[in-house]
Amino acid sequence: MSVRAVVKGVGHYLPERVVENSEFEKSLDTTDEWIKSRSGIERRHLAADGQTTSEMATAAAQAALIDAGFVASDLDAIIVATSTADLTFPSAATMVQHALGMTKGYAFDVQAVCAGFVFALSNANALIVSGQAKRVLVIGAETFSRIMDWTDRGTCVLFGDGAGALILEAAKGDGSNADRGILSTDLNSDGSQRDILYVDGGVSTQSTGHLRMQGKEVFRHAVEKLAQTAETALEKAGLSGDDVDWIVPHQANLRIIKKTAQKMGVPMERVVVTVQDHGNTSAASIPLALSVGKKRGQIKPGDLVVTEAIGGGLAWGAVVLRW
Ligand code: UT7
Repeated sequence: MSVRAVVKGVGHYLPERVVENSEFEKSLDTTDEWIKSRSGIERRHLAADGQTTSEMATAAAQAALIDAGFVASDLDAIIVATSTADLTFPSAATMVQHALGMTKGYAFDVQAVCAGFVFALSNANALIVSGQAKRVLVIGAETFSRIMDWTDRGTCVLFGDGAGALILEAAKGDGSNADRGILSTDLNSDGSQRDILYVDGGVSTQSTGHLRMQGKEVFRHAVEKLAQTAETALEKAGLSGDDVDWIVPHQANLRIIKKTAQKMGVPMERVVVTVQDHGNTSAASIPLALSVGKKRGQIKPGDLVVTEAIGGGLAWGAVVLRW
């Protein structure tokens, strides 16, 4: 007998404003064709003026609560994965806690950039299996539009805003990989790679800053590390690529998604792809894809799902779960 963190609900929120690739042709030396062919991105949602990360996170959380059939007071903890919280402090998670009307439990943010949701999910799993929480709301929410350099065609065409949320609940399993819930996790970081993906500002440097990326270098690391971490997580659960029903990858670049699936021996028919519609929403991309994948009828109860992500740090990891 062992405790598993089982998915009870999922939901997402996307801001109303949709920006098609062609809009960038008016202000930048770029084309719809370049963006589509190099990244797979066709459009992205951008937050309205004044709209914050915690507002989007709350909307995603409300959708996940409805999906789970829970109310906020059923929750013990909230973890928000974000690099773009509303304020330096308090955490976006405590703002979500208040907005949901939750007066007990605890809430905190996790910052691992694009890998943030995988890190948050792994931490939520640890809280549940160690008995520190029974029900945890895990959210990925970002307003990367606020840290874009809108004159840098190499980055600003790639990112979007949004939020996704997942609710986990402790359930008894038999300890085998046939259990529902999180079966294994694998987390990694390498601080020596700071300069290939970072924001050139922050609290202790007295500015907000803009995202800076050496795209080719990040691409190279992504292709090498994502399949590796996904395979390590699968091995920890005694599983392999053949057992996977769905890869739900971080949605940064369709070419990275395809190469990773190919390395894992998983056909693209078993990969949830949303990058064309959302762009790269950093920590929000995986929960957004999980929610959309469920709505499309792709992900069903009992399916073996592998999530994998890499981002600034570098930080990367994977979570294997049975839906
Ligand atoms: O979520 C965090 C993880 N992030 C990622 O995973 C992103 C990883 N990297 C990538 O997705 C890709 O490297 C990019 C999509 C960012 C770029 O694709 P690439 O095939 O690596 O292109 P590149 O950076 O090597 O640029 C090729 C050319 C360059 O011109 P030259 O130097 O060959 O003359 C760029 O200046 O494309 C140029 N370029 C553009 N051209 C038109 C860069 N951005 C654009 C643009 N439109 N928007």
